Amino acid sequence: MCGIVGYIGNGNVYDVLIKGLQRLEYRGYDSAGIALLTPDNKINVYKTRGKVSALENFCRDKNTESRLGIAHTRWATHGEPTDNNAHPHYSEDGNLALVHNGTIENFKVLKDALQQHGVHFHTETDTEVLVQLIEFIKVQNSCSLLDAVREALKQVVGAYAMAVIDKNEPDQIIAARKSSPLVVGIGDDEMFLASDATPFVDHTKNVVYIDDEHIAIIRKGEPLRIVDFENKESKVSVKQLEWSISQLEKGGYPHFMLKEIFEQPETLRDCIRGRAVADQGKVILNGVLSNSEKFLDANRIIIVACGTSWHASLLGKSLIQQFCRIPVDVEYASEFRYSKPVITDKDVVIAVSQSGETADTLAAIQIARDKGAFVYGISNVVGSSIPRNTASGTYIHVGPEIGVASTKAFTGQVMVFTLLALQIAQLKGSMPQEEIQAMLDCICRMPEYVAEVLKLDKAIQRLSLIFTYARNFIYLGRGYSYPVALEGALKLKEISYIHAEGYPAAEMKHGPIALIDPGFPVIAVATKSATYDKTVSNLMECKARGAKVIVVATEGDEEINKIADCIIRVPAVRDVFSPITASVPLQLLAREVAILRGCDVDQPRNLAKSVTVE
Ligand code: F6R
Repeated sequence: MCGIVGYIGNGNVYDVLIKGLQRLEYRGYDSAGIALLTPDNKINVYKTRGKVSALENFCRDKNTESRLGIAHTRWATHGEPTDNNAHPHYSEDGNLALVHNGTIENFKVLKDALQQHGVHFHTETDTEVLVQLIEFIKVQNSCSLLDAVREALKQVVGAYAMAVIDKNEPDQIIAARKSSPLVVGIGDDEMFLASDATPFVDHTKNVVYIDDEHIAIIRKGEPLRIVDFENKESKVSVKQLEWSISQLEKGGYPHFMLKEIFEQPETLRDCIRGRAVADQGKVILNGVLSNSEKFLDANRIIIVACGTSWHASLLGKSLIQQFCRIPVDVEYASEFRYSKPVITDKDVVIAVSQSGETADTLAAIQIARDKGAFVYGISNVVGSSIPRNTASGTYIHVGPEIGVASTKAFTGQVMVFTLLALQIAQLKGSMPQEEIQAMLDCICRMPEYVAEVLKLDKAIQRLSLIFTYARNFIYLGRGYSYPVALEGALKLKEISYIHAEGYPAAEMKHGPIALIDPGFPVIAVATKSATYDKTVSNLMECKARGAKVIVVATEGDEEINKIADCIIRVPAVRDVFSPITASVPLQLLAREVAILRGCDVDQPRNLAKSVTVE
């Protein structure tokens, strides 16, 4: 949440920073701002409420000539999203400007102490405390910006990625992190820093991931230096980025979300490549193979995740239990840490996160590690905090997901769970080889099946028209279809702002069926499976009370015609694979309803993609 970007080099600083902010806008879009160090060493700060486009308008008649700069796009935590609370924040004497992603938990204590020393505050943010504290220490100790930052950060409790510039020490950006992401890009005679690599991927593929509690010293004409808070020099380890620029652009689609939905055949191919080796009857998931004894000896597997990743984890639970006969619990990462979890060194904890930066999931990982569990990560973003804080793991390899609503990451996570469950089953011998072979053959065909489903987009567009009146939706499913129902409901509510709930179909009669009145839309995932007949009975109960029933059904299922008002037909696959085919039309449906309601599909209100605050 919040994106920060910085640039020092010979390019047009303003253009680089604005482009960088546009790429980071998925991390928050309440306000945006920029601080530019002018050629004669003044700092110009321009900031405004609203999106990066509003900042561009604001800057149109401003002096943007500069030698280096830092910029910020905000998801508000402390203080309303006003012009004044927008970053960058500056010190009282105007010498320093600072941007920050995260929260400073002890800001009140620090603020009180600074106020007692006569420091005046101008905003409601926690961030202003940080810049004032650095300036205060710098003046009191007559020290360098670097030393002042080190001392200040020793006093700060919380999570942060921050960058600061000083007009008295030009040609330098000091940046630091603790529990919030920060990467430096190293180009020819230029350096970038950002919350992730997207702002500079078209300039350089050389990246340095800054470790927790470390400070990056970015100086013009000098190599990058990294020190810890005690000023001990750290090794600078340069990694190669694999992303391409086309992955960060809409590629002719009106929204990233639509592009990402349509990418799924390809992203599934990338996800299974080299892992589902059908012609050899093998699964090759190196993270599991190299830690096989941990999985085989596990008393229990606990999966921790949030949001869409939590829905994928529910499917992971069913897959692992069914294929491997190992007990599995799924926990909201945000609840896990406060539930006094019972974990032993015989447990395996799997942390699932698209961004790899979700603060709650990182906190859950820390607890599991402290208790001695083996922690395995499933993530998308290479080099993000979750892969760096887990003993081993698997990337879903679906490429950058920029639309705030997760789509291709969900199907990628489900696919990785399928591979993981099959891998353990193969190692454990808990599933006959013929069965594993049949599963592998089906996995290899999944991209084609999803491509078939995507041909439904026009039909789903027409279907969405009849639901513009509805203010409430219920999504139903059983077994493997229940998490799909939850995910379908989440997609609808987050991008169209329509109230939607997912339920196991049989739970309706235990309360929620009271909501049904004539015309109430019920969306059911009723593909052919062991629970198909029971689901149909549950739908009859809704239908009898006047519900308008839309069913995601299996191709060739004629029986469903008797109760469904509308049918979305997906290819016939084994029930364990139906979540992948059945979730795609629900992604399309949510998007169509959101468009009809005039909502911002890629940047829904109040949300941000990478949730780096607890
Ligand atoms: C919903 C969505 C969120 C995320 C959740 C966890 O479309 O994107 O619910 O799934 O914030 O994020 P990650 O997977 O990055 O940990």
